Amino acid sequence: MNNPIDKFKTWWQEALAESPLQQKSAVCVSTIDEQGFPTGRFVDLKSVGENGFVFCTCFDSAKGRQIERNAKTAITAWWDHSGYQVRIVGTSELITAGEADQFWAARNKSAQLTTTAFEQSEPTASEAELAARLEDASAKFAEQDIPRPDNWGGYCVKPISIEFLTFRESRLHLRELFVYKENGWVKQLLQP
Ligand SMILES: Cc1cc2nc3c(=O)[nH]c(=O)nc-3n(C[C@H](O)[C@H](O)[C@H](O)COP(=O)(O)O)c2cc1C
Repeated sequence: MNNPIDKFKTWWQEALAESPLQQKSAVCVSTIDEQGFPTGRFVDLKSVGENGFVFCTCFDSAKGRQIERNAKTAITAWWDHSGYQVRIVGTSELITAGEADQFWAARNKSAQLTTTAFEQSEPTASEAELAARLEDASAKFAEQDIPRPDNWGGYCVKPISIEFLTFRESRLHLRELFVYKENGWVKQLLQP
């Protein structure tokens, strides 16, 4: 397959279909902090298309602020049951408010409440404070739909390179690197 986006979709579908995981779409997103250190954390991969790889989060979170300063982003996935690793490098761009609304509507109320109740990545004094904040939000929105907060939305990581590794017990892993050049994707095999 010469288009890495199509290849990713095929692998992702396969990984999802056979996944023993509870959080089947978790991928590691790495951003660059103020000191230039890479920082990684798992998020849910929401969708994949020709534009790139979409995840949702709070813009005021540590990762959101890091992306504001430096849009260079990596996504890494490992699906143990399939033996697939994927490494994506690219730049994050905001998805539209309309797209964010759709992802927000697809979340369950509990996830919406948590997002609304908290300021992601900010310090907290105690777990009791967290419980109180959640209770307040639950009471406020008991009878009404929860609107998408202005600071919640999505980023689309537009890829410049995607590497697919097929794990082999022999350690003779197959590594297929796709790099985006002027005329499209160029594929190169790498030594394991
Ligand atoms: C399986 C899993 C899925 C997660 N999905 C998301 C997600 O989609 N969006 C998000 O903002 N945080 C998600 N989190 C929480 C993040 O890992 C992280 O703790 C949070 O986004 C704050 O990161 P930051 O302080 O680096 O911004 C998830 C955590 C796990 C373990």
